[in-house]
Amino acid sequence: MPPMNAKSADTRKPKNTKATIKRLMSYLNEDKVKIGLAFVCVLVSSMTNLAGSYMLRPIINNLVADVSAAERISTLAINLVKMASIYAAGVLAAFFQARIMIGVSQRALLKLRGDLFEKLQDLPVRFFDTNNTGDIMSRFTNDVDTIGEMLNSTLVQIFQGIVSLIGTLILMFYTNFWLSIVTIVVAPIMAKIGTTIASRSRKRFSRQQAELGKVNAYIEEIVTGQKVVKVFCHEDKVIDEFETLNDSLKNAQIKAQFAGGMMGPSMNAMSQVNYTLTAGVGSILVILGRLGKFGGLGKKGLFSALDIGGLTVFVNFSRQFSRPINELAQQLTIVMSALAGAERVFDVMDREPESDRGDIVLDHIHGDVVIDDITFGYNPDKTILKDVSIYAHPGQKIALVGSTGAGKTTITNLITRFYDIDKGKITIDGIDIFDINRDSLRENIAVVLQDTHLFTGTVMENIRYGRLDATDAEVRNAAVTSNAHSFIQHLPDGYDTVLEGDGSNLSQGQRQLLNIARAALSKAPILILDEATSSVDTRTERDINKGMDTLMENRTTFVIAHRLSTIRNADAIMVLEHGVIIERGSHEELLAQKGRYYELYTGLKELD
Ligand SMILES: Nc1ncnc2c1ncn2[C@@H]1O[C@H](COP(=O)(O)OP(=O)(O)OP(=O)(O)O)[C@@H](O)[C@H]1O
Ligand SMILES: [Mg+2]
Repeated sequence: MPPMNAKSADTRKPKNTKATIKRLMSYLNEDKVKIGLAFVCVLVSSMTNLAGSYMLRPIINNLVADVSAAERISTLAINLVKMASIYAAGVLAAFFQARIMIGVSQRALLKLRGDLFEKLQDLPVRFFDTNNTGDIMSRFTNDVDTIGEMLNSTLVQIFQGIVSLIGTLILMFYTNFWLSIVTIVVAPIMAKIGTTIASRSRKRFSRQQAELGKVNAYIEEIVTGQKVVKVFCHEDKVIDEFETLNDSLKNAQIKAQFAGGMMGPSMNAMSQVNYTLTAGVGSILVILGRLGKFGGLGKKGLFSALDIGGLTVFVNFSRQFSRPINELAQQLTIVMSALAGAERVFDVMDREPESDRGDIVLDHIHGDVVIDDITFGYNPDKTILKDVSIYAHPGQKIALVGSTGAGKTTITNLITRFYDIDKGKITIDGIDIFDINRDSLRENIAVVLQDTHLFTGTVMENIRYGRLDATDAEVRNAAVTSNAHSFIQHLPDGYDTVLEGDGSNLSQGQRQLLNIARAALSKAPILILDEATSSVDTRTERDINKGMDTLMENRTTFVIAHRLSTIRNADAIMVLEHGVIIERGSHEELLAQKGRYYELYTGLKELD
């Protein structure tokens, strides 16, 4: 019902219509010829439609004409065959048009979706952190769908509507000049009355929605707060308040429903008025024509008299006349929302891709990592890390500790270049990470993310994500190293067990073990472990730690852990607070300092 949709349609207006259309059209470029053909088909089908209904005129006129029975029958037969062939041609054209446009629009959508998906792979982590998943998804679903609808049918329908409008108008004038004038004068008046009624009922419907919202909100509030209502014996007061709201809703609903219910019949009534008027004026014209007035029988051209067949086709035309106008409005709404959708799709495509200035490809590096005085904030107005410096010699194990939100994960985000540093420098074997090719950089860093993801597929495939060319034996080895092997063995299909929906059929700890196995598979000389043991029991944790010790051999490792027992043997421990390293040293040194680390480790002071 239009009153309901009106609001959502308003919010989906494209901003730069011209540019968007142009860009969208570029997706149709290859199919220009086919589209041209489809539009020719539309033209044919609309014109045959008009011509077909016009054929009624000679058919009827033949029935009332002053001719012999034999002649009447043969003319009728010829006319019927003509009519049928015209309609048949129209149906064929419509069929081809649909066939062509479906192919064209689906090909365009295929390319659009492909381009969008490819672009997503190029976008920086920041994009995914700042846009919610639902919003990104809706560009692939809703937006692409409305674009599809527009390409598939709406554009064609609009063209068809315009053709039939013009065609009907021409045929009306051709049939009778004066009657056409009547229709043209009356139609806009009818349209005006129609839109007035519609806008009136739209207002009433939004009143009704508002009242309904109030009632629902009140019910929700009282249901959730029922205990409080009871405790304070407020039942009577609540019932009174509800009655008031309930009553206004009833009144608003009566008004809206009445207006809504009246819309159909009043539109109908107007169409009947138009119909009757046309029939009345038409009949008078037929009578006058017979009397030789107003053109008169036998006269040709614009002012020829109206015959009975003419009157019949004319009333049909005048009925058809207003339909395309009403439909055009709806179709334009679809076009608008499709263009708005296209804009949202192109908006993603125009986002800045992940920066990649460097082209140095790392080859057999030692894993010497220097974080030199870096300062960083996710947003310019809020600094997260301040003057952080960390040196990791090849094979060293550096631990980052600190309370939640201190900036530990942020440091690893900068090493992997998920985000770019504002100030300072990070080097690997003396090479600035900005001069290193992005893929090469990431190939040399194995990461166990704090919040990681398992894909739909087997356990084997999921571990292999760590290094795609790993053999089955290597995958098993990695699982053994990371202590994942024993639980995998007990899964129904072992390594062939299919994981679904981010590994929802596994426990948190098991998921974590698979993630570690992934990292274990990688031969990267630098390793980042973020909270790798946060969600497992103490025994599994011990197992993981054993596995990780093997994993860390000969690799430069950054390990983040809340359980400080796991990092006692680190070469250096950095204590981070509000983005600043406030203490650094070995486990023993830090304990001896009796500072923040000592507090964290001994639990003498609660974490903030
Ligand atoms: N994508 C982001 N956009 C904006 N701010 C962020 C983003 N990620 C983290 N932050 C902010 O940066 C700060 C540091 O976050 P970080 O994830 O580095 O903490 P952490 O030390 O790893 O904490 P935890 O121990 O809970 O994992 C926090 O205040 C957080 O709100
Ligand atoms: Mg973190």
